[in-house]
Amino acid sequence: MSASILSLARSAPTARTAPAAPGAGAGTQPLVAAERVSRRFESGRVAAVVDVSLALAPGEYVALTGPSGCGKSTLLHLLGTLERPDSGAVRYRGTDCAGTDAAALRATRIGFVFQACHLIPTLSAVDNVELPMLETRWRAAERRRRALALLDAVGLADRGAHRPSQLSGGQRQRVAIARALANEPELVIADEPTGNLDSANAARCLALLADLRRARGLTLIVATHDAAVAAGADRIVRLRDGRIENERA
Ligand SMILES: Nc1ncnc2c1ncn2[C@@H]1O[C@H](COP(=O)(O)OP(=O)(O)OP(=O)(O)O)[C@@H](O)[C@H]1O
Ligand SMILES: [Mg+2]
Repeated sequence: MSASILSLARSAPTARTAPAAPGAGAGTQPLVAAERVSRRFESGRVAAVVDVSLALAPGEYVALTGPSGCGKSTLLHLLGTLERPDSGAVRYRGTDCAGTDAAALRATRIGFVFQACHLIPTLSAVDNVELPMLETRWRAAERRRRALALLDAVGLADRGAHRPSQLSGGQRQRVAIARALANEPELVIADEPTGNLDSANAARCLALLADLRRARGLTLIVATHDAAVAAGADRIVRLRDGRIENERA
């Protein structure tokens, strides 16, 4: 890829439509931090995340591992403000997300790759990638150019007109990765992004994220069962029964 994407990134206008991120520019503080967060489901019977503290420095790449059901997706949803903790706090650049416009934060700063893709079934691949850009100042032609470049970067240049039902599971996952990058997020939260991909496409998507991280200081947290994904991380955090079992660099 990715020369085209990287040059797009550098030449793009500042297209933020939300207010500046709370506390932006405050030096070495974490970009995002969970502080003793817990989240239970089913009237408290299921403890998905228990008293977890985890801070991501700007530009850091953290892999989140652990057995199925240990709380990886729930923790990612908490870090991305999609879920609120029952106790504890999530801070973005030092500010408690409970008191901020979390939707604006998500729309402009955070890119999600969901475990189940969540593409819009009635839209083509390129329209799905464009979707997060609708709220930006980019004009229609520029949005389309960027969406096509992102599809190219994930190896789907020839699939832009296809709807999700016309794509394989791995292709849908790659569209989801392209969509997560559409708004030039500073934080990418990816839930098993390579889970449906063969090794060549997994390597391609990882290389894309690594390039963007180098070029733009992207901060990355990835839940994964894939040893190759975890091996590339600065830090591997392992969950068990909703708690951090261990961490290693
Ligand atoms: N919305 C929900 N309602 C009820 N229980 C839930 C909900 N979401 C998650 N859980 C439960 O919380 C626990 C943690 O789930 P989570 O999806 O975070 O695990 P995970 O580590 O991502 O698993 P996997 O590797 O299979 O994706 C599980 O026991 C799950 O059944
Ligand atoms: Mg999960």
